[in-house]
Amino acid sequence: MKVAIAADHGGYSLKEEIKKLLDELHISYEDFGCHCEDSVDYPDYALPVAERVASGEFTRGILVCGTGLGMSIAANKVKGIRCAVVHDCFSAKATREHNDTNIIALGGRVVGPGLAREIIRIWLETPFSGGRHQRRIDKISEIEKKYS
Ligand code: RB5
Repeated sequence: MKVAIAADHGGYSLKEEIKKLLDELHISYEDFGCHCEDSVDYPDYALPVAERVASGEFTRGILVCGTGLGMSIAANKVKGIRCAVVHDCFSAKATREHNDTNIIALGGRVVGPGLAREIIRIWLETPFSGGRHQRRIDKISEIEKKYS
């Protein structure tokens, strides 16, 4: 498992917490910024992560902004990306089992570090269930093809 991680200024501090968790779990990652709390534009940080996950260079991506929303909207523009904003443990598990999400987005202004760590741990550890869910993922891919 190789993780690409990035944040804007609204997610910088939570990104640093998540990196500590990845270190504890011995999961290798690359940090695509930002590197301080100066104001930046979240699409500039969502794109490099989304492109590298879509290309297969990285297994999963983690994006953090103030709400997780802007990052997820930007990441989902890249073909092959399934990114969900997750702020609870039930959804963290469900979005892996049902949606096979390859990027998770969190809001640094929404969740605290304790909950975020639990969400990330569950999301990283939960496998895709396949079966009927694969059929639905295939339909999402068809939509993507239709509009690309
Ligand atoms: C930045 O102020 C904020 O808009 C950004 O972090 C994010 O929440 C956007 O969706």
